[in-house]
Amino acid sequence: MLVCHCNGVSDKTVRRAVRQGAQSAAEVGRACGAGTCCQGCGPTINRIIRHESHRQANTSVSTVDSLATSTS
Ligand code: FES
Repeated sequence: MLVCHCNGVSDKTVRRAVRQGAQSAAEVGRACGAGTCCQGCGPTINRIIRHESHRQANTSVSTVDSLATSTS
């Protein structure tokens, strides 16, 4: 899905930028260009950042849980 129409950036590219460390819309913009023109896609970028942050947090908890289970 195209997130940033001004710069032709997809949600997949934005997600990749977040997974590689971008933690704000400005950092996503520096990483892939999304949101650097009219900023109309800013709310969508922020939603993707929140979603990816929750996903990463849940993955970390799952990893800790599985480590605790496998060592006990
Ligand atoms: S739609 Fe993303 S900067 Fe305009």
